[in-house]
Amino acid sequence: MAKRTLKDTEVEGKRVLVRVDFNVPIDQGIETLASYDHRLRASLPTIQYLLERNSKVILCSHLGRPSGRVVEELRMAPVADRLSLLLSQPVGHLPDCVGPEVESAVETMSSGDILMLENLRFHSEEEKNDPDFARALASLSDVFVMDAFAAAHRAHASTVGVPQYVPSVAGLLMQREIELMGRALESPELPLAALLGGAKVSDKIMVLENLLGRVQALFIGGGMSNTFLKATGYSVGASSVEEDRLEVASQILQRAKNNGITVHLPQDVVISREFRSDPDPESVRTVPVDQVPDDWYVMDIGVRSIEAYVAGLRACKTVIWNGPMGVFEFPAFAEGTRRIGEAVASLDAATVVGGGSTAEAVEELGITDRMTHVSTGGGASLEFMEGKELPGIAALPDK
Ligand code: 3PG
Repeated sequence: MAKRTLKDTEVEGKRVLVRVDFNVPIDQGIETLASYDHRLRASLPTIQYLLERNSKVILCSHLGRPSGRVVEELRMAPVADRLSLLLSQPVGHLPDCVGPEVESAVETMSSGDILMLENLRFHSEEEKNDPDFARALASLSDVFVMDAFAAAHRAHASTVGVPQYVPSVAGLLMQREIELMGRALESPELPLAALLGGAKVSDKIMVLENLLGRVQALFIGGGMSNTFLKATGYSVGASSVEEDRLEVASQILQRAKNNGITVHLPQDVVISREFRSDPDPESVRTVPVDQVPDDWYVMDIGVRSIEAYVAGLRACKTVIWNGPMGVFEFPAFAEGTRRIGEAVASLDAATVVGGGSTAEAVEELGITDRMTHVSTGGGASLEFMEGKELPGIAALPDK
């Protein structure tokens, strides 16, 4: 599935429309934008490549879920300002993404200028993949660059519609995501391990299904391990368990066994009497998995589990990691994720981190640069790991 990329096309002096995913958690306040600009920084190689070739760069993105209405708090202007700081050059911002005002602004662009269009989802036509809207966006450009891997699982006008009307290629970020995640799944150096955590088994079933035929080792942590532990016969106290997934969890463990996969489940866990970020230290302790009292919550993997996971990971040559090992957002229960993250970052292996909360954890731990690849996609990277073809990738022409 080799797609035409930026390097396969001529962009010198051309008007280039770039679909980026600058969907950042703006609701946390624009003053904190600097701490969550991973997606902006990941798009810089494509933008800089175009600037070096004197293109007129027109960026478009969605931000939040405004459902086809103009929502003042979801304007792209603060994001354009942050990008301008990262690039050390002005980034213009337009009050809309289509229409006469946008057309004339694009007409007066000089080579090397950058403009950011307004939030695409202010128009309901974006999510409906309306052909006229896609055509209007496409008409702003000579070349379309799809660099929004994180939005490639959405079949919207700006992801699958535009490529029908203008020559299109994958951007450098998109190319990197497809190559590095694709290699980890399709032709990894073995042994390949999947390190899966996060709250729910149900979110990861399809990923597990896809990975069971590929991995040699499976490490399970986070809230989802409660369901696996219960399926194995342990009591996990007051922790939430997906009762309707116990059967699936048992089947997955059985299939893993049949496939000769080494499965690591927690041997010991950090438990708390209260599910809160600042628990009374008296009510936190580490116990073996068969000793979780009825009214206590499993919050993290314990030290023995961490050591066993680290030892197991050291034997692997490729690691796919998706999901924190415990309730990482509560500092008292971040130790498992921190130590496993450090261990993954230190491996002599290809390490690929799925986006969303895992990317945030990796970012917070300051180990992003020590991973082979940290995906910018949340839902998109999950679907990619499920083995699905993402519509925003499928819409791009092959080489
Ligand atoms: C994401 O943040 O995962 C993408 O930008 C997609 O956003 P959406 O779930 O609102 O489509």
